[in-house]
Amino acid sequence: MPNNPVITILVGTNAHSRTTRAVALAYESILSDRKIPYQLCDLKDIPRDIIAPDMYYNRSESFVSFQENYLFPTDKYIIVIPEYNGGIPGIFKLMMDCTEITEAWWGKQACLTGVASGRSGNLRGLDTLTNYLNYLKVDVFKNKIPISRVDELVEEGKLIDKSTLQIIEEQLDQYLEF
Ligand SMILES: Cc1cc2nc3c(=O)[nH]c(=O)nc-3n(C[C@H](O)[C@H](O)[C@H](O)COP(=O)(O)O)c2cc1C
Repeated sequence: MPNNPVITILVGTNAHSRTTRAVALAYESILSDRKIPYQLCDLKDIPRDIIAPDMYYNRSESFVSFQENYLFPTDKYIIVIPEYNGGIPGIFKLMMDCTEITEAWWGKQACLTGVASGRSGNLRGLDTLTNYLNYLKVDVFKNKIPISRVDELVEEGKLIDKSTLQIIEEQLDQYLEF
């Protein structure tokens, strides 16, 4: 890993998200306070042509730019991923399936946080995503946070729950040393 790794926070849904984005912004705020450079990639901005049949082998210009701007330069991913029907959002898997995997994923690191309105904090999705990422030769950081009942922890677009903010900060401290 380089001394100054490129860090990318991925908002793992293309929905107009309230809570997933709020959790991602908590990571952003810590990095920004510490003056650690990062970029934020929200899948709601993913090129719409991602569902075209050609995308797997003949990517559109807009998706080529997307992966060149957000994925290829990244050394360390921070992925905040909501629970959709007991797993990860389909758009996230589709995004992975459309990428040039050697440049987007191989040899990189990822730190995962699950978000759910229900009780499991997307534990299943975290496991599934860990498997996908390990297949793509990504080192997944062992401290993964499942955030349950997230609606109760977010107010006006901000994660306000002190204990959750604390465990995020601890996880990030460890991940930056990983
Ligand atoms: C298609 C869809 C499926 C969902 N499935 C689950 C689920 O299986 N379990 C759960 O706890 N929450 C589920 N949720 C609720 C999300 O976990 C909740 O919306 C999450 O906090 C993300 O919110 P956000 O859209 O504000 O980011 C689902 C939401 C959507 C849109």
